[in-house]
This record gives sequence, C-alpha cells and structure tokens, in this order.
Amino acid sequence: MTSFSVGLLGHGTVGAAFEALLGERADAVAKTTGRRPELSGVLTRSRGDFDDILERSDLVVELMGGLEPAREYVLRALEVGKPVVTANKQLLSHHGDELFGAAHEAGVDLRFEAAVGGVVPAIRVLHETLAAAEVHRVHGIVNGTTNFILTEMTRTGASYTEALADAQRLGYAEADPSDDVNGRDAAAKMAILARLAFGAAVSLDQVTYEGIEHVTAADIAYARELGLSLKLIGTAERVDGGLSVRVHPAFLNARHPLASVDGSFNAVTIESPAITEITLSGPGAGGSQTASAVLGDVVSAMLPPPVPPAPAAPVEIVSDIESAFYLHLEVADRPGVLAQIAEILGLQGVSVKSVVQEGLGADARLTIVVHPIRESKFLAAVSLIGRLDFLRVSPRWIRVIEEVFE
Ligand SMILES: NC(=O)c1ccc[n+]([C@@H]2O[C@H](COP(=O)([O-])OP(=O)(O)OC[C@H]3O[C@@H](n4cnc5c(N)ncnc54)[C@H](OP(=O)(O)O)[C@@H]3O)[C@@H](O)[C@H]2O)c1
Repeated sequence: MTSFSVGLLGHGTVGAAFEALLGERADAVAKTTGRRPELSGVLTRSRGDFDDILERSDLVVELMGGLEPAREYVLRALEVGKPVVTANKQLLSHHGDELFGAAHEAGVDLRFEAAVGGVVPAIRVLHETLAAAEVHRVHGIVNGTTNFILTEMTRTGASYTEALADAQRLGYAEADPSDDVNGRDAAAKMAILARLAFGAAVSLDQVTYEGIEHVTAADIAYARELGLSLKLIGTAERVDGGLSVRVHPAFLNARHPLASVDGSFNAVTIESPAITEITLSGPGAGGSQTASAVLGDVVSAMLPPPVPPAPAAPVEIVSDIESAFYLHLEVADRPGVLAQIAEILGLQGVSVKSVVQEGLGADARLTIVVHPIRESKFLAAVSLIGRLDFLRVSPRWIRVIEEVFE
C-alpha cells in the first residue's frame, strides 16, 4: 500500500492530539482511502524546517494559529499544488479571499472544518450535503466559552463576573478571554460560515458583533421566568437582496433548537426552504475533539476528486435588520411613566407585545418585549426613552429570536 505524507505545522494542544490520533487511526484511514497516512515532519518554533516539510508532504496541516507565518505557509503549500487542512479561524476570516483564490487557482483542497464550531460538521454539511440547497439563514452558537458562562449564569444565578471566574478556573476560558466574551471569536467563525453558505466574500470587518460582558443577572432571571434561553447567537442570513452577518446575545424561545444547547457545546442551525432546518451540535473545542475534525478533513482531502471552492462573489452587507427586542427599564414609581414610554414606542412604529411591571418604589422596573421592527427604529425609540427624567439608569435591551420549527 502506498503512503500519504502529512506535514504538520504546529504541535500544541491540537497538533499533539492530531499526531496521536493519526497514529491510532492510520489503519482505518488506509482502509477507507487506500493510502496509509504518515507524518512527514513537524514544525514548531524550535523544531523542523518548513521548506523541507513542504517538499516531503502530500498535504499540509496548519495548526499553528495566528496570521503570520500561517498565511505564508498555507499560501506556499497551495501554490505548489498541495492540499491544506487548517483549524485557524483568524487566518480564514482575515485572508479568506486570498487563500481560497490560491486554492481555486491551483485546483487543490483547502479544508477548514475545525475552524468553526469545533467538532460540529457544519462546514461539510454546508459544502457537500447542502451544496445545491438554497440556504436562507445560518444561526450558530459557535463560542463554547460564552455558552458556558451564560449556562452557568442561568443554572446558578451567578453574575457575569462570577461565571467568568468559574469558566477560567475550569479551563473553559483563557486568562485573557477578551476575544471570546466580546463576540469577536464568534464573528470570525460567522464570517467563514457566511462565505460558505452564501458563496459571498465576507470578511471579519463586515461582521457586526456584541459580546456578553453587559448581560446581567436580571436579564437571565427574566429569561428564566419566561422559559427563554439567553445565548450568544451568530447569524448569517439573506436580507433585502444582501447579507446580514452578526453576533449578539439573544433570547431564544425554549422550543428553538439552539435553546437547549448548554455548557461549552457548540451548535449550528441551517435553514433552507427545502429542508426547513438542520441542527448540528457537539463539543466546541478541546485538543482531541478538534484533532478529530482535522483528521476528518485530511481523509476527505485524500479521497479523489478534490472540490476546489468557487471564488466568492462580492456582497452587499445589510446592517439594519428586523428583530423582536426585550427592553429593560428601571424607572421611578410614579403615574404616567408607562404612558410616556408607550407613546414614544408608538411614534417610532414599535409595537409592544408584552409589558411586565416589577418592584416598587426605588426598585420599580419595566420589562417590555416588542414585535419585530427595524433595528434603527427600535434604537431611535430607546434613545428617546433614555432621555426621560424618570429613568434611574440607561435602558438595556437584548434581541429576541422568536421562531420555532414545528
Ligand atoms: N485548542 C482548541 O481547542 C482549538 C479548537 C478549535 C480550533 N483551534 C485552532 O487550532 C489552532 C492551534 O491551536 P492550539 O490550541 O493547538 O495552539 P497552541 O497550543 O498554542 O499550539 C501552537 C503550536 O504552533 C506552533 N507555532 C506557533 N507559531 C509558530 C511559528 N511562528 N513557527 C512555528 N511554529 C509555531 C507552536 O510552537 P511551540 O510549541 O514552539 O510554541 C505550537 O506548537 C489555532 O488556529 C486555534 O485557533 C484550537
């Protein structure tokens, strides 16, 4: 049996797990593909030489992370006709056009399942199973750290700061969790998913994102009372002939497929008229889990014929989209307050679905849910409400995803 040489760039958490898994699964891969995979070399900062590894490899696996030299190495491999598998979301969300263009030009595979949603095979389903389906929308919980924090806040009533500290202690959040909690990591993954789902050249700077740093115990308590789940949701969808790609916290109806995705798990829901929806879920990260997704890509790349991705088309990004909203107001407890708020909402065309008044005196609060409305109109109303003298603190709002699939 002939062998298939795999060059491994990076030998950290995922790289070391990949080497171990490749050793364990080489026989099984050989049975499936007719070729036995073996490592041709390993590159770290202190070990190996890229040119030498490239020369001796049939395929390159990039597990270094970061932009440079990962970009340079991936480009050079593609340019000499060697397929590449990567788990590097930063790289693809920043340099997707250049790298996919190079893969297309050379007619070789650039595979990246592990870059989005850990083990969840969203890329393969979008790229292969649903290649001919018209995808309307992709929703995802694509960051395990934030999902763990929000799940802990819901489960224990902890504050954001307490839940983050727990996540760090248990290894679900890094010492510097900024890119996870501010939504940027999820935004990079949504840029990659949007590119694939819609064949559109979406880069990270076109994705609007908000994180979970400002979510309060009161928001979570409200969600719990009404049986809603608060999640950090990434969305890529067709809107008004363009695309909206965004990440923000959202309340989900308990019957939405993403509502029950808890802890550090990731999940992606793909909506298309032909199939209604498909939801895929699984562990969001971890060395061996990610290595398994990487090995899956290696096996796919070993099976002929490769499917070079088509060049992505330019796209118009739509930012002012419709959504239902939850609005939380801490107000002075006096007559006429609700009427004034209702008037402002009404003047902006915002239609109220429900109002709950809680607390008395210095603790009076209004929780309002409004029907779907353009974000700009809702924000105009919130800005006017924010100027009312009976408000004790600035208004807080969170989007609500109301739909269920039944
Ligand atoms: N960890 C996860 O659960 C997970 C999940 C999904 C995706 N990913 C992605 O997988 C990739 C790898 O993540 P990781 O957690 O395995 O990272 P890691 O533990 O930090 O390992 C990075 C490896 O790359 C090597 N490296 C970094 N810069 C290099 C350079 N300039 N030249 C040569 N080698 C270099 C490091 O070498 P030294 O050993 O010499 O430092 C190390 O072996 C990243 O793109 C990450 O986003 C990770």
